[in-house]
Formats: sequence, C-alpha cells, structure tokens
Amino acid sequence: MEDPCLWWHRDVASTAGLNVVPIPVDERGARSDLLASTDAGAAVVTPAHQFPLGALMKPERRAAAIAWAQAFDGLLIEDDYDAELRYDRPPVGALQALDPEHVAFVGTVSKTLAPGLRLGWLLLPRWLLEPIFELRRKEDVHVSALEQITFTELLLSGAFERHIRRMRSRYRTRRDRLIAMLEARAPNVTPVGISAGLRVLLELPAGSPSAEEIADRAAQYSIELFPVARCYHSGKAARDGLVVGYAALPEHAFESGLAALGDLLEATLRTSA
Ligand SMILES: Cc1ncc(COP(=O)(O)O)c(C=O)c1O
Repeated sequence: MEDPCLWWHRDVASTAGLNVVPIPVDERGARSDLLASTDAGAAVVTPAHQFPLGALMKPERRAAAIAWAQAFDGLLIEDDYDAELRYDRPPVGALQALDPEHVAFVGTVSKTLAPGLRLGWLLLPRWLLEPIFELRRKEDVHVSALEQITFTELLLSGAFERHIRRMRSRYRTRRDRLIAMLEARAPNVTPVGISAGLRVLLELPAGSPSAEEIADRAAQYSIELFPVARCYHSGKAARDGLVVGYAALPEHAFESGLAALGDLLEATLRTSA
C-alpha cells in the first residue's frame, strides 16, 4: 500500500490477514520502482490522483508498476476514486488500459453522487471474475437493484454527464476561492497536489503548531480538518499538514466556512510566529 494512503484501506488489508508493506510516495507518485524489492503480491495505487498527497503518477512510475506486475505476476489495484473531477487537465488515462490482465480498476460514485449509495464498479482481469462473483454471492449477493437501475437511467439519459460538468465547474471555483483565501490570509501554508477532486492537502510551515493541535482547535470554529499523519503507516508525516475538503458545504455556507478557516489559520499561525 502507498505510504501515505487512505488508512481504512490499510485496515481492510490487515484485517483480512494480509501483511501490509508501505511503498513511499513522492511528487511523481508512488515509488513503484521499489515494488520489485518487496515480496508483495498485490499493490493498491492511486495513480490518477494520489491520496492524500494529490500527485499524478508520472509515466516512468506507471511503466515501472506495469513492469513489476508482469515480471512478478503481481496484481495492481487501481483506486480511481475521483477520476471525473479534473480542473486543470483532461481526465488521465487509466493504468488498467496498459495491461488489463494485471490491473483491477476500481471506481465508485462516492465523489460524484454520494458515498451513501455504495455504488461502484470493478474492471477485472479475466482470472479474477469468477472468484469475485463467488465472494459477492457469499457476502451479500448484489447491490440494491433500484439504485443500479436509477444510475443506469442517469447514465443513458446524459443527466450524469451534465451533473458532472456542473460539479466540475462548481468545485473548481471553490478550490480557486480556497487557494485565494490562503494566499491572502495564510501565505506560509502550502497547498499540495494537482487541481482535482474534493480535498486538498495544506502543508504547514516550519515552527507551526502540529496538525493535530490545529485540528483540535478547528472544532471551536465548527471546522473539521484531518491531520495527514493519520494516513502514514508510521503515524508520522514526512511534512505535517491538514487535509481540507471543500465540496460538502452548501453554497450559502461556503463563504463563511472559508472565513472561519482563514480566522483559524491566522490565529494559530500567528501564535506560533
Ligand atoms: C483514496 C480513496 N479511495 C476510495 C474512496 C472511496 O470510498 P468509497 O468506498 O466511499 O467509494 C475514497 C473515499 O473517500 C478515497 O478517499
């Protein structure tokens, strides 16, 4: 698993009895060139938008991931969790297209519609189809038919595409407003990663209170922030920071939400100066 990554994916793997091996991530994406030096049989990666660092996996890292899978008969699990939401570039090609027999591609409607729907899709290598069907039969048969039929209707009618276009423009504007607010009120905080998705990592300046302290204090401003250290296998971040979501607030509350975040950062970073 990437280090850092979504912590509950790590928990899912270890709860299943798997030995979790961390693979470092830098600004070029996961260090897939290091996979060959591990004894991993599968690797979970977020090549289109690394979570939580926001990097896009560069071509040489994509090639190294595929080369590892082919040489060691490994399985790449491609978590493409927010593919539709790109603000400064067209959607990025999937790793899966490079070698469909070694990549399991995973997507959901959690970012585009709602996580509560629990609707998603898998593009699987042929050899994995039957084992996955078997597992689904034993676990819960299938996802609710009503939601699937409704989603199909949204897709076929073009309504989903229109919704995505609207959301892309709304979230892009929100991200731009957040970045502008930071430049004005907390210029020593550094937003990291490509312009995409629903959240951004804010790296804290040297000498700042810890992300945990700021997240605790955020509660007084009715803001929920989460420290990036929780995503690291060791629990300690290479550079301390906070992940901020900008999508969930209703439009009428966004400006006051931004102002509250500005107040919090100004107050906290001023105290530290
Ligand atoms: C990195 C990453 N992958 C996948 C998901 C998808 O989660 P879900 O199970 O809701 O689709 C999320 C949701 O937050 C995520 O952050």
